Amino acid sequence: MSSKTDHAAPPAVTDLGAIARDRTSFDPAPSWRRSSDVVIDTARSASADVGVVGVTVGLKGAVPKSIGLDRATLTAAGFEGKVGQTFVVPRRETADLVAIGVGDASLSISEVRDTAAAFARAAGKYSVLATNLHDAVDGDTAAAAQAVVEGVLLARYRFGSLKNKNEAPAVDGLWLLAPADAIAAVRRGIARGRATAAAAQLARDLANTPPSHLTATRIAELAEEIADATGLGIEVLGPDELRELGCGGLLGVNAGSTEPPRLVKLTYRPKRVKTTTAKLALVGKGIMYDSGGISLKPSDPSHASMKMDMSGAAAVLSSMSSLRALDCQNEVVGFLMCTDNMPSGSAMKLGDVLHIHGGTTVEIHNTDAEGRLVLADGLALATEEAPDAIVDIATLTGACMVALGTGYAGVLGNSQTLVDQITGASAKADEPAWQLPLERTRYRKLLDSDVADMKNVGGPYGGAITAAVFLSEFVGDTPWAHLDIAGPMKVDSDESWRAKGATGYGTRLLIELATSFSKPE
Ligand code: BES
Ligand code: MN
Ligand code: ZN
Repeated sequence: MSSKTDHAAPPAVTDLGAIARDRTSFDPAPSWRRSSDVVIDTARSASADVGVVGVTVGLKGAVPKSIGLDRATLTAAGFEGKVGQTFVVPRRETADLVAIGVGDASLSISEVRDTAAAFARAAGKYSVLATNLHDAVDGDTAAAAQAVVEGVLLARYRFGSLKNKNEAPAVDGLWLLAPADAIAAVRRGIARGRATAAAAQLARDLANTPPSHLTATRIAELAEEIADATGLGIEVLGPDELRELGCGGLLGVNAGSTEPPRLVKLTYRPKRVKTTTAKLALVGKGIMYDSGGISLKPSDPSHASMKMDMSGAAAVLSSMSSLRALDCQNEVVGFLMCTDNMPSGSAMKLGDVLHIHGGTTVEIHNTDAEGRLVLADGLALATEEAPDAIVDIATLTGACMVALGTGYAGVLGNSQTLVDQITGASAKADEPAWQLPLERTRYRKLLDSDVADMKNVGGPYGGAITAAVFLSEFVGDTPWAHLDIAGPMKVDSDESWRAKGATGYGTRLLIELATSFSKPE
């Protein structure tokens, strides 16, 4: 029997996010929290708790005795010792062995990272691993040890917190086997690799988390927790403060959402500021979910990945979270521009004009070109910090993906020396980036608007470039570069140290950039 009041009750609004978060008290950063529990150290030899030992085997020369098989037997089994090949040798009494192919010359650091990933996958059923793989490099032992840690931890990364049954064991321990005279260098590499891998895992966690589990409000709360734990300054701005600052880009994109926007400002200062200390500003696109807005995206499967449209903001937050541990000597200020992009009765419309921080007006021609609108506010605010350079990072255009595929980010900028610093950091991190031309002279007019200073889309061609030209309008004379990471933000299957899903692209690149940064010419 139903009473009159039942009928009179207003329809309940289902808050999917609140339901998801309350029921599970969901943690969007499980890997980051767990990262300090993983035991990583050097040892002279593998101890009893080690499940598997990876031993390097070259293409030529003697096969290490510990393998227990001769070269002919290995070759007959299809293992020649080529770079990245692995072969599991089960043993009854002690830890299993994995023969790790290292070719016939010293490995590059990227090859070490890839080979470590191959080893970690071959050793997939074990949670405590040991190896001497860092030996396969002539020279920089610390960098090699760092690459081994990164390769192993990142290859074995899984986003498992929403699965009731976990498929594979996580890595709990990693021992780098080293003689006494290498221990100091290996330890230095371990410390660095631990920090960079934890940061990259944090970025992956955030991008893999479903959009209703990670709203702008929630990422800002988490940023506060991370900032407290890692020695960063933080300021969080909501709708009122944003209105006061005139951040019409972020507010305009947010207009269709029931979730409020957040601008998170992070600051890192080295313990001692020296004359060589430079100041870098980072701006990250934090679209928690990109539906396209009124210019709604079609429901093809790729749009489930639009929960990852905050990968730029994740890269800024995660890279900055490691700067204290790495004793970064430069000053870094980061802006996370967070909101989702939703269609509704209150959403921005085509033809609307937004007022960006600083006064530039932008006419909306496509509400799906929202990233550049939130970045515009971020870049305008960043310039006011008087940094030596600004770098923004964003899953900005499908066009960049069409141009470069999923293996490369696009990089464009108004300062060649800054772009060069970025491609250098990119090579070190093995997070590939390819420069595209910032063609202002001929393409700027594609952004001309009849009623405002600019419209938010260019023509049908060169979309990655016109997007960057749009952004360039908000940095004045400050050296600036833009990373379009739409392509490499995710992989569809395991690929070396990239685990299926969000890659955390940009985190290690930005760490490398921030720690080695110098004022561009
Ligand atoms: N977030 C998307 C770009 C994107 C697409 C990232 C695929 C990752 C994978 C962005 O906001 C977008 O929608 N861009 C539009 C711009 C266009 C309307 C000018 C695009 O690329 O189609
Ligand atoms: Mn979009
Ligand atoms: Zn987007």
